[in-house]
Amino acid sequence: MIKKITVPFIFAALLYLSACQQPGGNVTGSEYMPDMSHSIAYEANYYNYYYNNTWGTEDEYYAYAVPREPVNGTIPRGYAGNTNANNTSSGIGFTPNGSVPYYYEDTEEERVRAIAEIIDNPYQITDAGLATGKELYTIFCGICHGENGDGLGYLVRDADPAKFDEGGKYPVQPANMLLEEFINSSNGRYYHSIMYGKNMMGGYSDKLSYEERWQVIHHIRSLQAKSLSLAYSQLENTLNTVDIPAGEMAVHIEEDHMDEAGHEGGDEDHGSHDEHGDNSHH
Ligand code: HEC
Repeated sequence: MIKKITVPFIFAALLYLSACQQPGGNVTGSEYMPDMSHSIAYEANYYNYYYNNTWGTEDEYYAYAVPREPVNGTIPRGYAGNTNANNTSSGIGFTPNGSVPYYYEDTEEERVRAIAEIIDNPYQITDAGLATGKELYTIFCGICHGENGDGLGYLVRDADPAKFDEGGKYPVQPANMLLEEFINSSNGRYYHSIMYGKNMMGGYSDKLSYEERWQVIHHIRSLQAKSLSLAYSQLENTLNTVDIPAGEMAVHIEEDHMDEAGHEGGDEDHGSHDEHGDNSHH
């Protein structure tokens, strides 16, 4: 007969023996104070739920892994200071920087991926943007791709390709962006070329800021539209359905006029900046 006192003793002994059971076979083993070997601290922006965490439900834990909304008043990258084309609004005027991340490598597969995935121009079509784009295009692209985008730029014209005379200054034919193939290509094709160049063409990521690259692409689209007698402007785009005309409301800038709704021109200008920021960073 077992004495009363031995019952708790046997129970305790069994508990003790089973508590530190070794893992093996299909048994994971049991752990004493598991939070000593598994951290319940969470990694920021990384969902690593651990069932033994003690300070929240799984849903709460998940919420910690999701990116947060930026703090009110956050300025998107490249938007500190004055970014309008005419450098006229208040604020510190300097060219926005180009340090917006680009998640595509300089390889053929990645070029194809960029073309498939980058569809929208994050900036709406504005007259001011087109003017900036034209200026930059003339400086950086037109010398090869031609004032009209036909691939007959100054450097190539000198070579006189009509006579197959390759003795000119620039040895290869720059793309003729008025070809159907280019008109039908997504904006990613252009953006990727600006970032890395292609074959004999060098990249322009260090010369053109994020916004400037997109304004150059707007200008190229406007050249394509012009070649087909279509519209591509702040008010109308009949070239494609992707690029969005900003409409009358974005009418610019420097005259301190009142529009129909009674807002001051300056306020309007700020509004369009916010919009740019939103579009380009999500
Ligand atoms: C020094 C001459 C030169 C300059 C300047 C130049 N390019 Fe090019 N570009 C070329 C050549 C050459 C090709 C053809 C590359 C190939 O397909 O081998 C090309 C090809 C392209 C293509 C087609 C790429 C493709 O997917 O087939 C685009 C788009 C383009 N350039 C855009 C631009 C833009 C925008 C600029 C200005 C920021 C610019 N280029 C400046 C020479 C130039």
